[in-house]
Amino acid sequence: MNIRLTWRRAALALGGVLAAGFLFAWSGLFHVGATGGHWAVTNWFLHWVMRNSVRTAALTVEAPPDLDDRALVARAAGHYATGCAPCHGAPGEKQNPVIAQSLPAPPDFSHALDPWSPQELFVIVQQGVRYSGMPAWIEPMRRDEIWSVVAFLQRMPAMSSQDYQALSVGDGRPPGAGLHALSAPAPEAVADCARCHGRDGVGRDGDAFPIIAGQSEAYLLETLRAFAGGTRRSGMMQPAAARATDEDLQGLAAHYAAQPRVAAPAPSVQDAVLEEGGLIAREGIPLAQVPACLSCHGAAALARNPAWPRLDGQHADYLEGQLAAWRDGARGGGTQREVMATVAERLTPGQARAVAAWFASQPVR
Ligand code: HEC
Ligand code: HEC
Ligand code: HEC
Repeated sequence: MNIRLTWRRAALALGGVLAAGFLFAWSGLFHVGATGGHWAVTNWFLHWVMRNSVRTAALTVEAPPDLDDRALVARAAGHYATGCAPCHGAPGEKQNPVIAQSLPAPPDFSHALDPWSPQELFVIVQQGVRYSGMPAWIEPMRRDEIWSVVAFLQRMPAMSSQDYQALSVGDGRPPGAGLHALSAPAPEAVADCARCHGRDGVGRDGDAFPIIAGQSEAYLLETLRAFAGGTRRSGMMQPAAARATDEDLQGLAAHYAAQPRVAAPAPSVQDAVLEEGGLIAREGIPLAQVPACLSCHGAAALARNPAWPRLDGQHADYLEGQLAAWRDGARGGGTQREVMATVAERLTPGQARAVAAWFASQPVR
């Protein structure tokens, strides 16, 4: 028998296959349970699709910053312990056996990590992996945060469990193993914050964390509530603030405001840069309609409105990073964030760098 292939017949055959597939799905005979795992060929196929997708998306990712920077590695370590280790394990911390039963199971990173390029890791961490439980970064616009996770991931397989503990726990308390760590508030609220900021709010590992010691209490509380509510955007601070109750946030703001302010080491920039920064701080940039920073961030202004943050002695890199995040539309903040967004958008990167260095070099009051 000879059946001639026509468009009509091809369409009918395709429709038949689709209808059969639909009927099979409707019948409930397809087993969605995670017991038994995938066939080897399904595993291979899914991973192949994922690799291709990641490889293609990575083509448009910029060159990474210096991934050997110790501060960059340290910044992500504490977040890894609560945001990633519950699924992936960590040096000296085996993967939770419950998690190992999910399909696909998250790869166990306690010993090794597949050789992805930095740009590929960036894509995986920023965008997550569909149909697998691998979450996307909470704030995909915060590329600086994602690069710090990549820096950490590249170092982690070579870390001893002691190195990992030192980096992720600081002088706080270990977050507890397994899924619990994703949401559990620490028994004593400050123990969680201290992992990254220290109990004294001075931070650690160079400029890995902003100095919060001696910051205005009103600003601390407002900014912590902004993190918890998601209007201030950070993939690292949002989960930390959301784990705490509002009562805890009030106590934490009071605690850190009461710590003695310690100045960051003076930034190494040329005098001309500091002079330019000082001029912007005192007089603004009239032509670009930038007001004097000290009209809001000076001592007298802070006495008038304590919800404005002090910037004296803060790490230059942190200040510059916040100004850049505003320029990218990725910072957000408390109820007065738009005021500062307008100012930050008018600064060129060079001006932002100069004024950040000037504030960082100011002796603390
Ligand atoms: C809820 C569990 C879960 C959490 C939390 C999680 N992941 Fe994943 N992750 C997965 C799963 C599942 C996969 C496997 C995806 C696949 O192969 O399709 C994965 C894959 C990955 C991969 C690719 C590994 C490889 O070689 O295939 C990287 C890298 C990764 N995750 C990093 C992270 C980082 C960094 C964090 C924290 C910011 C994190 N993950 C948080 C579940 C999780
Ligand atoms: C996993 C590490 C980590 C933990 C835990 C953590 N923080 Fe942070 N914190 C950071 C990082 C990183 C930043 C900088 C965020 C940014 O760049 O937007 C930050 C920023 C802040 C800021 C803003 C500083 C400013 O000048 O605006 C405050 C306030 C703060 N943290 C307080 C806390 C408190 C209180 C806790 C405990 C509930 C806490 N943090 C827990 C890493 C952490
Ligand atoms: C009209 C008042 C005002 C002026 C002028 C102003 N700021 Fe701000 N600034 C704010 C407010 C309000 C915030 C807090 C925003 C938030 O997070 O809710 C802030 C926050 C900041 C932050 C973030 C601090 C932190 O700890 O995260 C930086 C950096 C900053 N300002 C730099 C500057 C610079 C540089 C100038 C001058 C070019 C300037 N500001 C001028 C009101 C002002």
